[in-house]
Amino acid sequence: MKDYKRIIANKINAPLDKAELLSYITETADDAFGDYAFPCFKLAKVMRMPPVQIALKLAEEVELDDDVVKVEAVNGYLNFFINRIEFVNDALSEVLLKGENFGDDTVGSGKTICIDYSSVNICKSFHIGHLSTTAIGSSLYKIYTALGYNVVGINHLGDYGTQFGKMIVAYKLWGNAEKVKKDGVQELQRLYVKFHQEEAERPELTDEARKWFVKIEQGDKEASELFEMFKQITLADVKEIYERLNVKFDSWNGESFYNDKMREPLDMLRGKGLIVESQGAQIVDLKDYDMPPCLLVKADGSSLYATRDIAAAIWRKKEYDFDKCLYVVAYQQNLHFKQFFKVLELAGLSWAKDLVHVAYGMVSLEDGAMSTRKGNVVLLRDVLNKAVEKSLETIVAKNPNLENREKVAEQVGVGAVLFSALENGKIKDITFTFDRVLNFDGETAPYLQYTCARCNSIIEKAGMSRFAKIAHDMRALDNGETLRLCKLLAAFPQAVKDAAYKYEPSILSGLLIDIAQAFNRFYIACRVLSDNLSEQNARLSVVEATGIALKKGLALLGIEAPEKM
Ligand code: ARG
Repeated sequence: MKDYKRIIANKINAPLDKAELLSYITETADDAFGDYAFPCFKLAKVMRMPPVQIALKLAEEVELDDDVVKVEAVNGYLNFFINRIEFVNDALSEVLLKGENFGDDTVGSGKTICIDYSSVNICKSFHIGHLSTTAIGSSLYKIYTALGYNVVGINHLGDYGTQFGKMIVAYKLWGNAEKVKKDGVQELQRLYVKFHQEEAERPELTDEARKWFVKIEQGDKEASELFEMFKQITLADVKEIYERLNVKFDSWNGESFYNDKMREPLDMLRGKGLIVESQGAQIVDLKDYDMPPCLLVKADGSSLYATRDIAAAIWRKKEYDFDKCLYVVAYQQNLHFKQFFKVLELAGLSWAKDLVHVAYGMVSLEDGAMSTRKGNVVLLRDVLNKAVEKSLETIVAKNPNLENREKVAEQVGVGAVLFSALENGKIKDITFTFDRVLNFDGETAPYLQYTCARCNSIIEKAGMSRFAKIAHDMRALDNGETLRLCKLLAAFPQAVKDAAYKYEPSILSGLLIDIAQAFNRFYIACRVLSDNLSEQNARLSVVEATGIALKKGLALLGIEAPEKM
């Protein structure tokens, strides 16, 4: 695509540095006022003229050509009109020629990005609290891959901590192998909940649990075997969900993987004089940075979450030599990340600046928050199942003859749930409602999938083979609806990059919604199927390009697009 902003910048004869000038040029909100605008207000001082006059003067000096066909001075703005038909043609050609590679790039080649995401906890069911990290992390994984990066997806399992001592006690007191095999993680969860209920009245259980935890750490046979069993049960459970969500990891190295990898980093920090003793514990003082101290070794000698994260960051740098390491983790852990990033920075590790906490908000269901301890967790599996069930109802009502509707319902239901975690800016807390996320006419995944399937069916009706044509009858495309849709299609590649660089898949999901809405307006305004074949072909190219962009965009969000709906 031509870089119209740059082309326009070169036509403005203003006493400004080119880069600055370029930065003031914006796309117009309303194409009645041209395609790009340049405000002259900033020039008033240097040019010693009122902006209105500056605009008139600069407009006169603009040289028009095949790319920029008209300029108007309006209220202190320069409004530029580009060669729209050529723009539309270029935008469509770009999508049609690239096909499924549309939006891909090589900017990331030779660079490595680690993404720590989902990072579930052993013995806990996969609940809705892990939806956002899973959806956002997986989408970033796909986006960075499309941009040519070497991506390492890491599930930093929560598989270390005193809670596993509690699990062993609970299991030995109230559990049995058969039931655990049968009910899996749900039974583990039940035992965990029971432990907390009983612990309130029987404080000796807490001591018992502590002892078992020490045994796990020391590699005691019975303790390790039980722990390993808990771990395998949990992993079998979550892997089933990852499969449904089409989420992948390259590493499952969790917290316990660093059991024997903390000494070196601790020695290094000590060597640099960063660690001080405080009431028997070892800490890094962060007073100067307005943070509470980072606790690294407890008085009893055991390590902490932060110690493991420090060891993990150092290990990952050695192993992968990443350019960036992202942690997709809820904002509740803001302080934790700020603290250990700071510790690594104070240790003089120059790459500490490449660690990024990608924070996001909480997801909750209409009926309120969830807590594992009390046992009223909202399981992601239940949410997915319900979404699929409801999708099936809608599909049956809309299209009773659809083949393999179970599969389509799965794609729609799962897609709707994933999209709900990708539609907003990350930091927002969101409340999940089935009716909203499954609304086929709302700003939802089903709406995108439906529009995409609609593109397929229009092409099928026309009896056209794909990638058949790039438009020739340009007059058929000379209208506002096509122009506005094509502007959005042309914005797609940059949106993919922005989503990556801002760690914000919602930039892409928002654009997809805009594209689908613009497409539906185009489809109302412009008759696609007609006897005039050259007109039909031209408009079919718009339909096909839209289908390609929507399908690719959904794939980058980790969402499938059913061929038919
Ligand atoms: N398991 C943790 C949790 O569920 C998230 C771990 C995030 N990753 C990390 N390196 N700290 O809260």
